[in-house]
Amino acid sequence: MKTNLSFIKTARDKIQLLNQKLLPHKQEYVTCVNGGDVAAAIKEMVVRGAPAIGISAAYGMYLTAWEASKKNKKITLDLLKKQKQQLDAARPTAVNLMWATQEMLSVAAAFFAKEAAAAPGANPSKVKEGPLKLLLALYEKALEIHNDDAERCLAMANNAVKYLVTKYPKEKYNILTHCNTGSLATGGIGTALGAIRLLAEKGKINMVYADETRPYMQGSRLTVFELQKEKIPVTLTIDSQAGYLMQKKLIDAVFVGADRVAANGDVANKIGTYSLSVLAKAHRIPFFVVAPKSTFDNKIENGDKIVVEERPAQEVLEIAGRVIAPKVPVVNYSFDVTPHTNITAIFSEDDTLE
Ligand code: MRU
Repeated sequence: MKTNLSFIKTARDKIQLLNQKLLPHKQEYVTCVNGGDVAAAIKEMVVRGAPAIGISAAYGMYLTAWEASKKNKKITLDLLKKQKQQLDAARPTAVNLMWATQEMLSVAAAFFAKEAAAAPGANPSKVKEGPLKLLLALYEKALEIHNDDAERCLAMANNAVKYLVTKYPKEKYNILTHCNTGSLATGGIGTALGAIRLLAEKGKINMVYADETRPYMQGSRLTVFELQKEKIPVTLTIDSQAGYLMQKKLIDAVFVGADRVAANGDVANKIGTYSLSVLAKAHRIPFFVVAPKSTFDNKIENGDKIVVEERPAQEVLEIAGRVIAPKVPVVNYSFDVTPHTNITAIFSEDDTLE
């Protein structure tokens, strides 16, 4: 199963990120030629969604090395460490970002260690042999992170679909989903939206209800756009309507993605996810999370320890640049944490956690 929609175009000397802020009305790309550009694009949400920002950051690490070599500067481990810091700080909650930059840094560290072993006494943080080998290793790693994500999406979707149709058999399902977890957010068919796509391919979708996802509207702008493109039946719903839809028995299951999964199975995801989980529990509706292993953070014991990003007040006070409220203090947490006790199952590429 493939999707023609991608959030990224890659080349040896740049990446181009589809500007998700302009979707669905305009399809324009933002060009990034170094890690700093990528960090800015992540911060401004030109690119968003946990796996997508991880993939972009991996290319960002490579581009910083590429740019240094093009300017005849030495590629040092310090340079890449600093780049990692800047990228990691762009958005704090989605752990895929730090995971991907660490994977890239490890490739560089292994390369420098090999160099140092070959020439004892030389400064191990400098590339002696010429940067080409290192650049190639970094590019290949970024590509691997990117391509592997497509395979992970398929495996997760398969696990999710198998579980749903076995444990909750039904001819066709009405699924509620939140935020955007599709091709715009991943390297493949998506996490939660990947599972929904696979269900649709098997003729098992009656209706997908897409939450608008205030305040950034990833649901109305991006999820609806993706599903309509593939002619999957979709109905837009305002976030606060979820409980009533459940009460009216219009929802068979909730599928969401994740930005970080703690060791005990608590899940950080787009603001509003926790409320959905409480509602689903109250209505005895299964609540599913679909996320790759790169979203799991076993260093974090439980959800209380997850850093939750707060976004600018402007995102709440304005809609499409138009002010909709008087000057007032605003609270704008970008994510919330759903306790594992509210989650029926988490599907990753490797397994199903109940
Ligand atoms: O703020 P965003 O748009 O980056 O948030 C994205 C989400 O919360 C997604 O649901 C998440 O990344 C999970 S799967 C791609």
